Amino acid sequence: MCGIVAYIGKKEAYPIIIKGLKRLEYRGYDSAGVALFNEDLRVYKKKGKVNDLVSFVKGKNLEGHVGIGHTRWATHGEPNDINAHPHTSDDGRLTIIHNGIIENYATLKEALIKEGHTFTSDTDTEVLIHLIGTLQDKDNLKLEEAVRIALSQVVGAYAIVILDKDDPTKLVAARKASPLVLGIGQNEFFLASDATPLVGYTSQVVYLNDEEIAVVSNDGTFEIKTFDNEIQTPYVQRLNMNIEKLEKGDYEHFMLKEIYEQPNTIADCMRGRVNAAAGWLKMGGIEVQEERIFNAKRFIMAACGTSWHAALIGEYLFEELARIPVEVEYASELRYRNPIINKDDVVIALSQSGETADTMAALELAKEKGALIYGIVNSVGSSISRITDSGSYIHAGPEIGVASTKAFTGQVTALTLMAIYMGYKRGTIPKSYYHQLLEGLEKIPAKVKEALECDNQIKKLATKFINTNHTLYLGRGYNFPVALEGALKLKEISYIHAEGYPAAEMKHGPIALIDENMPVVVIATNKSAYEKIASNIQEVKARKGIVIAIVTKGDTEISKIADYTIEIPDTEEPFTPLLSVIPLQLLSYHIALARGCNVDQPRNLAKSVTVE
Ligand code: F6R
Repeated sequence: MCGIVAYIGKKEAYPIIIKGLKRLEYRGYDSAGVALFNEDLRVYKKKGKVNDLVSFVKGKNLEGHVGIGHTRWATHGEPNDINAHPHTSDDGRLTIIHNGIIENYATLKEALIKEGHTFTSDTDTEVLIHLIGTLQDKDNLKLEEAVRIALSQVVGAYAIVILDKDDPTKLVAARKASPLVLGIGQNEFFLASDATPLVGYTSQVVYLNDEEIAVVSNDGTFEIKTFDNEIQTPYVQRLNMNIEKLEKGDYEHFMLKEIYEQPNTIADCMRGRVNAAAGWLKMGGIEVQEERIFNAKRFIMAACGTSWHAALIGEYLFEELARIPVEVEYASELRYRNPIINKDDVVIALSQSGETADTMAALELAKEKGALIYGIVNSVGSSISRITDSGSYIHAGPEIGVASTKAFTGQVTALTLMAIYMGYKRGTIPKSYYHQLLEGLEKIPAKVKEALECDNQIKKLATKFINTNHTLYLGRGYNFPVALEGALKLKEISYIHAEGYPAAEMKHGPIALIDENMPVVVIATNKSAYEKIASNIQEVKARKGIVIAIVTKGDTEISKIADYTIEIPDTEEPFTPLLSVIPLQLLSYHIALARGCNVDQPRNLAKSVTVE
């Protein structure tokens, strides 16, 4: 979490940094700050969002062709002005921005206090910059050398950029287990937590690897070395991102824009992979590792949050269509429980950001144990995408709203394609059904568009649930993980407590909660468990619960018993989640909006969870 941006070159640094911080605000928005150099160093920082910083610095000297900026998601120390980054060394000479955690900061701090250092903040970051400053002073080291030695004493995760006011012609940056991208312009450089702040300035990027230090100078030169002091030949890539994708356009919020993008993003995920008329489905990521994937004894899917819900749908898809055993794991649990993972397992990581610390660590563990690592990732060039043996990008484009929407449907689409591909090749999907599925898949983008037509109905419905305290979401089969996802969406952006359950499990506990004040969202589409879920609705109604049912278009049965029904188009059963999740995303959006919540930046959350 936390977003960092730095600039050195001939342009004014402040506007570039602020624009970049706004693009990175999804990573944290507890406080923001900048340090700028022009004849002297100026550090401005403020609790709150980037806009609070912008108001705070109005009228102040913002000049400088070099600067660093930060938007924070608090780990050590409460969100306030003092704990906001940048932090400075005791003599005020060095200034740092940091994303990550210094785990052994307490020991380092104690030693530094014994040497006479005093600290103004509660952060681990301030400890790091004091350490670097001390090491540099002791032996009169170059800044990059002091950084290298300091980092050898540090345990933790970090992406850092340091500005030295005695040598403002360069910036020194380093990373370990937190992302850092270097943008190369015309005699200018940009450093950022992801590539979005670079869009509009340069399309030449280098994704720094773990344990690398970069020194960028205002004469247009740069050098990358490993922590072992070996010079690296940088791999310069072309950035494929446009500004339109980073802006809200006519939408009030990124979340709504991203919900509405789904017909396109799902189509983008299928582009070049499916052709129903020609009767083929290709998955390049599987093809390059076909032998190991087809001989795998089982698949383990590891993920967090919404991505974990997509993985659960993957389990249903893989087991039903390809008849391959699947285990779905919370990455945070998998990494710490000495799991049995073998060389003939395939571990699939699902991650929108490609930076989630727990997912990354689970993959490293699985890799050590010899499993094949497959990534289903949105963010191109991210850490997870780079440690995998193979994978499929979901091509959803930047997801900026903190609540994941289009990444979820992208992940489910990629899993669906994989399941069909493997099922057909393994002979577990008959030819006629295979063709039916391909045709069905190609209709999904248009059906998602149709599902979005319930928006106005849901907007009106949402006003009835503004004062709700608890909500239950129920589903069966493919719709059970969708119920979990619907509940997560509601709680994270509206702060209403919500639980997702397999509908039949309701009888084993949650039914005790149901009374006339309890809204129960039931996903009751017309496939295999239809009668069963209709009975579950009766059970809720018998206890006076308020039923909001998601049904298949044309349904006449459930609308007789439910209080409210929302229709989605019919489809092949394995594709149902791609449609049934749409009204749930809209429901949480409109309820949160009606309650006056900050939909794109819900409290306490950050989009990229780079701490465990
Ligand atoms: C919820 C949400 C989170 C993420 C989770 C994993 O809307 O966005 O639950 O799904 O933090 O993040 P990624 O997919 O980036 O690994």
